Amino acid sequence: MSEPDEHSKKQGPLVYRQSVWTRLTHWTWAICLFFLLLSGLQIFNAHPALYVGQQSGFEFDNSVLRIGAVNTPEGPRGQTTVFGRTFDTTGVLGMSGTAEAPQYVGFPPAVTIPSFRDLATGRVVHFFFGWLLVAALFVWFLASFINGHLRRDILPRGADISGLPRDAMDHARFRFHHGRQYSPLQKISYFSVFFILFPLIVLTGLTMSPGMDAAFPWLLDLFGGRQTARTIHFGVMTLLVLFFVVHIIMVLLAGPLNELRSMVTGWYRTSPGTPPEAGDKP
Ligand code: HEM
Repeated sequence: MSEPDEHSKKQGPLVYRQSVWTRLTHWTWAICLFFLLLSGLQIFNAHPALYVGQQSGFEFDNSVLRIGAVNTPEGPRGQTTVFGRTFDTTGVLGMSGTAEAPQYVGFPPAVTIPSFRDLATGRVVHFFFGWLLVAALFVWFLASFINGHLRRDILPRGADISGLPRDAMDHARFRFHHGRQYSPLQKISYFSVFFILFPLIVLTGLTMSPGMDAAFPWLLDLFGGRQTARTIHFGVMTLLVLFFVVHIIMVLLAGPLNELRSMVTGWYRTSPGTPPEAGDKP
């Protein structure tokens, strides 16, 4: 075997890692999720409380989250109650804005679309990007099934499960290996996004639609009614926001230029020692 030359000691080959379908759908749902999040918070603000179960009544409180404003001896305050525990969230939730012009809304205007109260526009924006997301996911599943991305990079195998603790330790120590394929942790987190989070958020969204309930009544049984579906929808949104934050931190730590290049042009610079294959660039 020949000795590696100086160039390949410093860096591995440039590999074509992301197909045009992966890239197009990735940026489509990144844009969709931005608009869905902000218009979703506008819709949530119309009734800033979440419930579990199908019962209701004046003496009955099955809320798991409630955001609002209350009058106190010191003046109005924003309050958030989560699973029965109440927190003062003045300035962020329930009451925001300036002392001269306070806003008594669930989430502040800075994180809603539109920024002022407009449920109708919020719903139009939400449903438009919701269906665009569904279309992008459909294209992603079809293309990834046909071009092998699903089997090769997303579906975790036995070796990925057994390699997970070591990969998690490497990530925790900021030791990133830039391989031809995703690492076990990447595979498992992307698998969870595609097979748990995205399907759950779409199905619970459909469960809240009276038209869809008429066509598919089993949705209501599956999620325990519209209110519980709304709570799950909100919970999955929170998990997607957490995923997004960790995703961006990982992209920044792993080398943002190389990572971004792979999601824009498809080409990815691998770590030194990666064996070259046909079609790679030096
Ligand atoms: C809501 C926003 C986002 C979501 C839900 C999301 C989700 C994902 C998923 C599921 C993948 C795997 C795709 C596949 O292999 O088919 C991926 C890959 C990737 N994403 Fe995102 N993404 C988001 C935003 C972003 C943003 C803003 C950036 C850039 C700053 C970014 C950079 C990347 C890169 C570089 C990859 C390549 C895979 C890797 O090396 O780990 N993503 N993203």
